[in-house]
Order: sequence, then structure tokens, then C-alpha cells
Amino acid sequence: MPSKTIIEPFRIKSVEPIRWTTREQREELLRAAHYNLFLLPADDVLIDLLTDSGTGAMSTRQWAAIMQGDESYAGSRSFDRFRDSIQEIFGYHHVIPTHQGRAAERILFSVACKKGDVIPNNTHFDTTRANIEFIGAEAVDLPIPEARQPSKWHPFKGNMDVAALEELIARVGRERIPLVMITITNNSGGGQPVSMENARAVSAVCHKHRIPLYFDACRFAENAYFVKQREDGYSNKTPKQITQEMFALGDGCTMSAKKDGMANIGGFLCTNDGVLAAQEKDLLILTEGYPTYGGLAGRDLEAIAVGIQESLEEDYLRYRIASTAYLGNHLANEGVPILQPPGGHAIYLDARAFLPHIPPTQFPGVALAGELYLEGGIRSVEIGSLMFGAAATMDLVRLAIPRRVYTQSHVDYVIEVVLAVWQRREQIRGMKLTYQAPFLRHFTAYLEPVTAEVPQLLEA
Ligand code: F0G
Repeated sequence: MPSKTIIEPFRIKSVEPIRWTTREQREELLRAAHYNLFLLPADDVLIDLLTDSGTGAMSTRQWAAIMQGDESYAGSRSFDRFRDSIQEIFGYHHVIPTHQGRAAERILFSVACKKGDVIPNNTHFDTTRANIEFIGAEAVDLPIPEARQPSKWHPFKGNMDVAALEELIARVGRERIPLVMITITNNSGGGQPVSMENARAVSAVCHKHRIPLYFDACRFAENAYFVKQREDGYSNKTPKQITQEMFALGDGCTMSAKKDGMANIGGFLCTNDGVLAAQEKDLLILTEGYPTYGGLAGRDLEAIAVGIQESLEEDYLRYRIASTAYLGNHLANEGVPILQPPGGHAIYLDARAFLPHIPPTQFPGVALAGELYLEGGIRSVEIGSLMFGAAATMDLVRLAIPRRVYTQSHVDYVIEVVLAVWQRREQIRGMKLTYQAPFLRHFTAYLEPVTAEVPQLLEA
């Protein structure tokens, strides 16, 4: 790069105002939302880092393609463009459109899995796990050991533990494992990449045992860029070549086009297995729509066909990965504990290390996320004891960065807000639950600050 400053590789043609609130207003708004940021009206958020899913900005080319959407029920030419674009990148024979990623997951697992089966993954995303468990199968996470230590640096912390996979297959038997998945990048593990070497090793184990390998492809382009930067032998390959090489190791994929598809809605399911594809299409017709639109409008198919190619552009990926690292490194340099190294789509604050005086039973992640909102109107998401209950091994606060939406000055502002909260961290109190739903409680839970005095140590 000619200069040190990362500039956004685009200029802005259409703008969307964001709204300031006062500290007093935010205190009232947070109370009214029962300290659960999912329950805030989005208009009362200044910088929304809740998710990078479906929140990106589309390009002029995508908007132009939208005008060419063919809304025919069957045989739409928009489907042809969608399929051709996806096949060029991923290389699979059958491409099935769905309204988002979890619909692809539901169809895949409904057709390929049954009660009592076991599905390994580096780390299952919540919807993947929930769809597997809904069938009565078991979702098993097999990340490498380094993935469980937030402060540990590893270039490919998203890798799967290959020995653990072998051991699992030996223990439960290959008949009970209808497929193996690899999630790139590993979102629940911190947006961390998977190396080509690891994907190759997992693929070899799968093929030895004749078990199909599927990718959860949501952030495939970000993963490819990490491979280019960090893995020997890939610096001269394009992100597209790297993606093609990686997906050739598998038999299919699920995809949420709301991430590296650069679209606001959509997803797809791919497979090389013709028998499975026919069953998947039957189920698709029953619940999503005809196989040439699968619950999407023709214009959505067009936006994805263009967006999925744009996500592989090198100027874009250089900026994307660098701007996420910029946020993470500036925080880490000031001593703020983050999950290392910075991920592709998000920075994860380590709330247990940030607020060591708040036990996991008092939701340090929820407390920290609430303070970021109070301090500067930033919305983040807790990934920890509220989301996973006692099973949580970490309490993280994810700052997910929408694609092509915020500029470097927005990121600088986020850094200032986090540092201001860091300065007064010892005054932050834990939280207690006042209402919870029987499952996926984090979306709707009510909380309030614990009223017990601040620990003595901090008052001194
Ligand atoms: N797989 C991964 C790795 C994901 O991150 C997500 C969504 C999905 C599958 C499901 O896709 O939302 O289109 O149904 N992740 C979003 C997030 C919601 O905020 O991380 P979907």
C-alpha cells in the first residue's frame, strides 16, 4: 500500500442520517429497554454494531442490477445470473436459493440428518446448532484448544481440531455422522479464520471415512483474505482463487448472503449430490418457494449475484480487514482486553477481563454493552452468560462492523467511547435477570443493575 492511512475504497452517493441522543435520554431508553439492547428502537442508536448481517451498504452496481430483477415465478433469468455467479466462485453443481442462512441450514439438516446423529463443526453458530438440535441430532464443537483462550494469538484460531474429529468418528461411528461442517470464519469463536491446510486435513479425514464436508460460508471472502495474508504460498493468489481452492475440498455449503453476499437479505444451499438436491428442492417448494427464487425476489437474486463477487475484490478486503484490525489494535494498545487477534467482521471485548469484579452470574457482558450505549449510543451484542447460560466459557461483547457503512471517523469515535468506559470500569455494576423466555432468552430478556453496594475494594 502506498500510504499508511486506510481509506475507504468507495465514495458515498447516498447518505442516511444518524441521530444523537443525550445521556439522560439514553438512561431512560436503556431502562425502558430493560437493559437489553435488542429491545432498543434502532433510531435511538448512534452507531449500530449489533451485527454485520444484512446491515451492509450496497454498491451502485448492485442497485443497478436490482432494476433488472426478473420477477417471473419460474425460470427467472435473475436466477440464472445468481446461479452462475455462485457456481463460478464455489464450484458446486446444485445451487438452491433461500431467504437467509438459517433456511439453508434447516433444509440441509432436515434432509441429511436424523435423530441421534452427530454433526461436528469448528464451532456451530447458534442457528446452526438450534437447527441440528431441532432434528434431535447433536451439534459438537471441535475448535483447536487455542480458540478457548481469548488473549492467545494464533493466525488461524478458527481451525478445527483434526485429532478430536478423528477421535469423535472412532467413538460414535461414521454411520452417525451424516456430514462435517467448517464455519469460515468462525463467528462464535471470534471471527477467526480457518487455514487452507486445516481445511485440507479435515477434508482428508472426511473423505477417508466417506463423510461429506460442508462449509458454513457466511464470511468466505474475509477468510480467503486471511489465508492470503497469513498462510505460506497464498500471497500471490487472488481471494477468488483461494476461495475456489478451499470449496473444492468440500461437497457443499450453506450461506447467508447477508454477510459476504453484500446483500440485505438472502442465502443459499449448495451441494454436489443430485439425490440430496432433489429432496432439498422438494422441501424448498413446500416452505420457501419455487427453486428459481426460494423465498427471494428476483431483484434480491441480482443483488447477491453482484455482491458476492464484490466481496472478493482485493481493495475492498484490504480495507475491510485493516479497519477491523484498526479498531482492535487501538483498543488493545490502551490495555483494553480483546479477543486476539482481531477477527474479520468484528472485535470482541473480553468482558470477564474488562470487569473482573463482576462474576459471570451477574452478566459482565450485558453490563459492558449497556455502558457502551450509555456512554456513546453504541449498540453491541453480548455473547456470553446471557446467550449461553451456565455453558458459557467466555463473556464477550461483540462490536460487529457492517460492510461499507461506517467511516474511519466513526471507528475513531467508537474507540473513544470504549476507552471512556474503560477509564471508569471499576464503577460498573453487575446485572440480574428479571424475565427470561424458555429458549433463546437473550433476544427478549429483561435485566436490571444489581443494587448491592460496589465492592469495598473499589470504594477505597
Ligand atoms: N452461520 C453463521 C456463521 C452466522 O454468523 C449466521 C448469522 C448464520 C449462519 C445464520 O444466517 O442470519 O442469514 O439466518 N449470523 C448473524 C450474526 C445473525 O449476527 O452473527 P442468517
